Amino acid sequence: MWNKVSVAPLRHWHALAQPIRHASGNVRTVTLIPGDGIGPEIAVAVQRIFEAAEAPIAWEAVDVTPVKNPDGTMGIPKAAIDSVNKNQIGLKSPLMTPVGKGFRSLNLQLRKEFSLYANVRPCKSIEGYKTLYDDVDLVTIRENTEGEYSGIEHEIVSGVVQSIKLITENASRRVAEFAFEYAKNNNRSKVTAVHKANIMRMSDGLFLRCCREAAEKHPEVKFEEKYLDTVCLNMVQDPTQYDVLVMPNLYGDIISDLCAGLIGGLGLTPSGNVGTGGAIFEAVHGTAPDIAGHDKANPTALLLSSVMMLRYMDLYDHAQRIETACFEVIREGQTITGDLGGQAKCSEYTDAIIRKLEAGQ
Ligand code: IPM
Ligand code: MG
Repeated sequence: MWNKVSVAPLRHWHALAQPIRHASGNVRTVTLIPGDGIGPEIAVAVQRIFEAAEAPIAWEAVDVTPVKNPDGTMGIPKAAIDSVNKNQIGLKSPLMTPVGKGFRSLNLQLRKEFSLYANVRPCKSIEGYKTLYDDVDLVTIRENTEGEYSGIEHEIVSGVVQSIKLITENASRRVAEFAFEYAKNNNRSKVTAVHKANIMRMSDGLFLRCCREAAEKHPEVKFEEKYLDTVCLNMVQDPTQYDVLVMPNLYGDIISDLCAGLIGGLGLTPSGNVGTGGAIFEAVHGTAPDIAGHDKANPTALLLSSVMMLRYMDLYDHAQRIETACFEVIREGQTITGDLGGQAKCSEYTDAIIRKLEAGQ
């Protein structure tokens, strides 16, 4: 059952979202968003592990504390935007999202600002961390720029609000195409389009049509269409029936959490936002303000996201070594953080991964 090689064997990206090539030996600069709450602690863990693995990465840390735009809205500071535009690659710790008021989530602003149109979230069972299933191996690909996340909401009359679910052919087509290219390049055999086109006939209907058209162009990859509710039902009963899933934004938000739950939660799952102009890899768990500053956080999700990033940058060897070291520490179960049932501090878990790296070198 276990594939010991890799949780997210993203060896090949595809022609649409082109990885940025680099001459071997060159140090590449990556924008680092240390984030809020536990963000800075887990970012330090990743930096220490990268240093131990001698990954040829220089970090450019940027502050994304929102600033006032000329129109009065709050947005990403220009220095941060410039840094991502220059480096075209970023690693991001969690950022606080205000609920129901205040500025629009910076998490979303970043995805929009850089047109990171495909959100790739692999979920693979982790040996040593027991959950209901030990053979989960799937990838959700979430449309990342529109749908219910378009942010177009207004009050029609007092007590009645309208929220627009925006679906465009352009965004649906590019993410559908991405899903098939991804499946092909990562030796995956099936793409499932997740939808509710029986109810939202025009919007989900359009998304589904784009998936069907992409499927026709890639006959070597199997294609199926499933209702969102059916996928939820099937997924908790037998997740092995799915492989790559592609879906509109909100469905992807929900299904990717559901899938993460199958392998141990958001503390263990990586995520990558990929677009034509670059990519930002991120941990999608919260900022956990209650434990911030206590050296208790689990940095695995950010670390595995950074491993995805290394593969995106063609640094396969570094990616493999870091991933293997991380999984060995989890499998042994001696030095794991509280959320995984252990007692190690974040820094101790990080030390253990570094020792594995050094032993393997
Ligand atoms: C995610 C998160 C974000 C989202 C939040 C933090 C804005 O849940 O990346 O899945 O809703 O997309
Ligand atoms: Mg989410």
